[in-house]
Amino acid sequence: MKDHGLGESAMKPVRKIVIPVAGLGTRVLPATKTIPKELLTVVDRPLIDYVVDEARDAGIEHVVLVTGRGKGAIEDYFDHAYELEATLRQKSKTDILSEIEKTIPVAGSVSYTRQQAPLGLGHAVWCARELIGDEPFAISLPDEIVAHRPGFLKQMVDAYSSVGGNLVAVEEVPPADTSKYGVIAPKDRTGNLIEMSGMVEKPAPADAPSNFRIIGRYILQPEIFALLENQGKGAGGEIQLTDSMNTLNGQQTFHAVVCDGLIYDCGSKLGFVKANAALGANHPEFGAEFKSFLKSID
Ligand code: G1P
Repeated sequence: MKDHGLGESAMKPVRKIVIPVAGLGTRVLPATKTIPKELLTVVDRPLIDYVVDEARDAGIEHVVLVTGRGKGAIEDYFDHAYELEATLRQKSKTDILSEIEKTIPVAGSVSYTRQQAPLGLGHAVWCARELIGDEPFAISLPDEIVAHRPGFLKQMVDAYSSVGGNLVAVEEVPPADTSKYGVIAPKDRTGNLIEMSGMVEKPAPADAPSNFRIIGRYILQPEIFALLENQGKGAGGEIQLTDSMNTLNGQQTFHAVVCDGLIYDCGSKLGFVKANAALGANHPEFGAEFKSFLKSID
């Protein structure tokens, strides 16, 4: 019989998040030839800053970044830059200084582990198992910025407090697009919560169980790690998180939270440019001026 996925870790709060940042960013080359994709900027902040902020808004206390070769600059981003800070202080540039200070997490609240080979998202998440331990945890994929106030992960954590188990975020996409994503099999819908009966990674439109695609936000129970450990290769020859989640869905409950915010896929060039335009147009300092500039171009 299915439990709520809860067992021993029943309704433990979601305190930790895994953010996979090992990907090569091939869809946005050459920008990512020497710069980690997660440090590309949307308006005035790197992508990674948006997801870490969203996690903080959701009450997450500990961030686990699954990094890879050539991603060292991400660790530097979350550390003090003494020379820079000293110079700003000396020049009394206090506004910029306080902006920079906001990017530095509480000491000890970020951990790093490396995915040593690009074996897929499921493998990246599995690499974090020792740092997560036996408790429920969130996952955010930094490619996707969800424009939602309060942050969308907060809405998922709130849903988790009422239904427990496992949750994924979803949005509806044109049926022709299902082969780009993980797609859920819905059972019952109440408001923006859908109880799920399964999910499949990158199905052809004819095989897709719905047109609700998984967005890169999840809350999972720790039992996922044992499944990932033995997970064979799936779509694209990679170890897919969706495949292990689908097995877990046979044992524990899964709900999908339908996202009502705008989602920008910054792993693609078009999504990235759209994110910059949309967030730029809403920027408190120059949004109005930027909007009228956008209107002026053909
Ligand atoms: C991954 C997941 C997929 C999900 C997508 C969201 O795919 O495997 O289920 O829909 O992220 O961005 P990827 O983009 O790594 O191919």
